Amino acid sequence: MIDKYVNGILQGDCLELFKNIPDNSVDMTFADPPFNLQKKYKSYQDNLEFQEYLNWCEKWIAEMVRVTKPTGSIFLHNIPKWLTFYASYLNKFAHFKHWISWDAPTAPMGKSLQPAHYGVLFYTKEAKGAKINELRHPHKRDRKQGYLWKDYGGKKDLLHPFGPLVSDVWTDIHRIKHNSKRDLHPCQLPLHLMDRLILLVTDENDLVLDPFSGTGTTAISAKRLGRNYIGFELDEKYVEISQQKLELVKPNYKIGTSWVSFYLKDIVTVRNSDWNNLQQYFDIPNPMRSIDFQKTKLKKNVKLPKELEFNIQPENEEIENDIKETNKALTSHPQNSESFEQVPMIVQWDERK
Ligand SMILES: C[S@@+](CC[C@H](N)C(=O)[O-])C[C@H]1O[C@@H](n2cnc3c(N)ncnc32)[C@H](O)[C@@H]1O
Repeated sequence: MIDKYVNGILQGDCLELFKNIPDNSVDMTFADPPFNLQKKYKSYQDNLEFQEYLNWCEKWIAEMVRVTKPTGSIFLHNIPKWLTFYASYLNKFAHFKHWISWDAPTAPMGKSLQPAHYGVLFYTKEAKGAKINELRHPHKRDRKQGYLWKDYGGKKDLLHPFGPLVSDVWTDIHRIKHNSKRDLHPCQLPLHLMDRLILLVTDENDLVLDPFSGTGTTAISAKRLGRNYIGFELDEKYVEISQQKLELVKPNYKIGTSWVSFYLKDIVTVRNSDWNNLQQYFDIPNPMRSIDFQKTKLKKNVKLPKELEFNIQPENEEIENDIKETNKALTSHPQNSESFEQVPMIVQWDERK
């Protein structure tokens, strides 16, 4: 029954669409719901009463748990305020693994500390037997001089050539700032954020479900990493944009036989268990201590998958008005305070050389 929905973005209300998904059928569920911050979506009114919002959230969180397999994982992305409520609800039905802190400025809440992270709650459906992989990301370096950010003293010889294990604080993934990488959507997530979560808990051909698909970030990440996906999205235009993009995406985020996450020609995340296979494709500093100023780099003859970009033109007056409205919402939102001259709309993909 589920087969006809696999690798599709379904338009409609997620609570209705969840009825089509059997219990224990999905390897990973991820939700990036509206944050109830009056954001300017095309179809959804992002301003429910406090308790009304939480009651609604509990319904779709329960559905996420229901459809997740016993070996599967559940992720919820939101601002910390709402995650505290999500966690106390989810603790009754699933098993807490981590609160991932994604370092990115968020909307101000009151006049105390400036919020500087979004949270991603990571739960497994069962206490034991969940599929979880260790991940690695490149060593952090000083931008100007290229030296290692941390001082490892005399221990540089012992460093992992690719980089450290990924922790629960993510400082190396930035929000989308460039118009060329953004659709007409107020809060599109970066693809390599989704790549990291997908590599963490799924294998090739596993199924990933996102009930608030937006312009398809989770689905695109899943597809390029050789996974299957199902997306739900209320807004027809966002569904259309997702479908246009998905047609062009190929399952090619791979080096040799290992799936990896790229951004701007750099590798952002690999699975620790893949390093044995991957290391043949890298020039590794020798002696190892020169890693202090010398990066572990992909060999010149290794071909990277082409990263897709899109240039977007407004189609007509109605869309231009949409863009103006969205721009207003974007620029008044502190996390996006850099000016957006034009928000992309029609997707015309371009393959970067
Ligand atoms: C925070 S955005 C998700 C953005 C997405 N992660 C991306 O990167 O494009 C939330 C999305 O949920 C959609 N939405 C709101 N209510 C919904 C509902 N009841 N069912 C399905 N989608 C809904 C909104 O239209 C919006 O696109």
